[in-house]
Amino acid sequence: MRVIAIDGPAGAGKSTVGRALAERLGLRYLDTGAMYRAVACAALRRGVDPGNADAVADMLADVDIEVGDGRVTIDGADATAEIRGRAVTQAVTPVAANPQVRAVLRARQRAWAASHGGGVIEGRDIGSVVFPDAELKLFLTASPRVRAERRVAEVGGDVEEVAAAIAHRDASDAGRHDGPMVEASGAVVVDTTGLGIDQVLAVIESLLERT
Ligand code: DC
Repeated sequence: MRVIAIDGPAGAGKSTVGRALAERLGLRYLDTGAMYRAVACAALRRGVDPGNADAVADMLADVDIEVGDGRVTIDGADATAEIRGRAVTQAVTPVAANPQVRAVLRARQRAWAASHGGGVIEGRDIGSVVFPDAELKLFLTASPRVRAERRVAEVGGDVEEVAAAIAHRDASDAGRHDGPMVEASGAVVVDTTGLGIDQVLAVIESLLERT
């Protein structure tokens, strides 16, 4: 099983780099942030309070979430665009801090990797908690300004507002008790500020040659 773990804050380039790297290596790609977003989206759709940890955990036992190949479905209904919207982006913070949700999703991530012979897997706790023995553990980062500008280029909005929202989410992701965003032991930090996708891929490929 070949696992490449990519962690780091929003806008660091994890998804763009992860997808391209998976293609080059002939591996599948898993966006675990989309899994947390899908749980938050399901809660909103069902009228469950995202901050009610037990209610969200109960709901999760009863909902069918599929994340893969750039598409997300909840109980068979498409949610690919909705999970990137503002409502879900706000609701995902308490959902991602819910230890019951994290336990279920981590088990699913490990099962996904086992059934696909590994993969390029992106998130916040992938190298630190879910796959500490990954072949390569990366922590991608970039300056807050560049991260906000990338998000605005993707989903629109005002750079200052997006920067503030990202800073808020970073603080929450880094400060939570269960699976905080940290540089995993043995992770290589790659600062993508000022780097294009091909330059980042070249850095990663040279790291893989050395592993
Ligand atoms: O990468 P993203 O913005 O789509 O992630 C959505 C949220 O889920 C974000 O608050 C971080 C959280 N997340 C997490 O806690 N653990 C992961 N492995 C992936 C994402």
